[in-house]
Amino acid sequence: MTSETLGAYREKWREVPGGSSENERLFSTDLLALPSADMLAHWEEQARRRAAGDLAWRNRLYLDVLRGKRVLELGSGLGYDGLHFVESAGAHWTFADIVPDNLEVIRRVAGARGFGAQTAFHYIGDDLSFDALGEFDAIWVSGSIHHVPFEIQHREAMNVMPHLVPGGRWLELVYPRERWLLEGEQPFSSWGRSTDGDRTPWVEWFDAEKIRARLAPARFEVLLDFEFGASEFRWVDLRYAEPHAFDPARAQKPLERVVTGLADRVQIDPSAQRLPFAGGRLRTQAELWARGATLDLAGAIAELAPLASGRELALDLEVEVDWGAFVLCLSDRAAMNRTGGAAVAAARPWRQRVTLRGASADIGSLLVRNYHAGRRSIGRIVTATLRVGT
Ligand SMILES: C[S@@+](CC[C@H](N)C(=O)[O-])C[C@H]1O[C@@H](n2cnc3c(N)ncnc32)[C@H](O)[C@@H]1O
Repeated sequence: MTSETLGAYREKWREVPGGSSENERLFSTDLLALPSADMLAHWEEQARRRAAGDLAWRNRLYLDVLRGKRVLELGSGLGYDGLHFVESAGAHWTFADIVPDNLEVIRRVAGARGFGAQTAFHYIGDDLSFDALGEFDAIWVSGSIHHVPFEIQHREAMNVMPHLVPGGRWLELVYPRERWLLEGEQPFSSWGRSTDGDRTPWVEWFDAEKIRARLAPARFEVLLDFEFGASEFRWVDLRYAEPHAFDPARAQKPLERVVTGLADRVQIDPSAQRLPFAGGRLRTQAELWARGATLDLAGAIAELAPLASGRELALDLEVEVDWGAFVLCLSDRAAMNRTGGAAVAAARPWRQRVTLRGASADIGSLLVRNYHAGRRSIGRIVTATLRVGT
């Protein structure tokens, strides 16, 4: 690994957001240059705005969850969230960041407010190491590691994971895919300029599924995954679902195989119509539950063997729904009985992502039905990929 791993990102993030998304950004070096009373007054004003702004609901929701807990925050900025929970919930908070001056501001504020004993600091070097730290009940990530490319995030997360206790939480604020779609599907190397200002080198959209892929092979269950603030933000709350601490040796395993291109094998049901335009869209009958299409997964499951045997499989779909709503569910081979996950995809102006999970021994097909009583539904499966679940 070169010493440049985080260079460009450190340069940007000397400048951190204020207390709410409407506030100016500040250079932590400038704050440190102020007389201490001025720096503290400035910090307190920003903290007050954070506690009253768009993100304030998290303070209420996590007050009891984090009470007295040991929390590691990745990308703590100027520490508004962490010092809030230190003060209100008696949490023990370790602030970690890639910019030393950001950490120094928090250290001074914590000292001045008498929270030195409940706070600790970790500078994230280019080795992305967290070896010096102990164990944590939760990892708090508020709009931070999505600012480096996925591969670096993955390495960083793999280094953090051995420090999370079984049943521990991964709590993360991200930008949703819908926001990325609405803002023009820009490359991640330029989208950051829309979300976080001119000098931002990188930002990626996330949802729970993509965070789980970043944390794989560690397995997490999803407790919350929702957008808020007019699609500006997404909040994801995950629980580490394994009985033992994560063994770092597992992080070295190569990515497991996937079977792609399955959308070409979708069979439109005889009772539905294939529309003669727009890439083979199907239109269902108007009855609730009318069959629309099936996808036989047996061949793909066989292709994944022996990896798939006895394991949970995940089917990732991209779906366009122009009108009405589909229910998509994993079924037995005959596409008669539901034997795995199900989801509703209602009409949206963009391509939606859906992931369905089921045990490899139980599932054999995907079944698409109408889910709009008294109306037809129109749309298509654009891509379908089967993989061993994470
Ligand atoms: C948008 S600011 C958010 C700060 C803070 N979490 C908040 O809510 O105000 C991004 C922060 O993440 C840090 N950061 C960027 N990339 C990081 C990474 N890969 N690991 C840890 N921190 C990172 C930056 O230094 C900066 O402090």
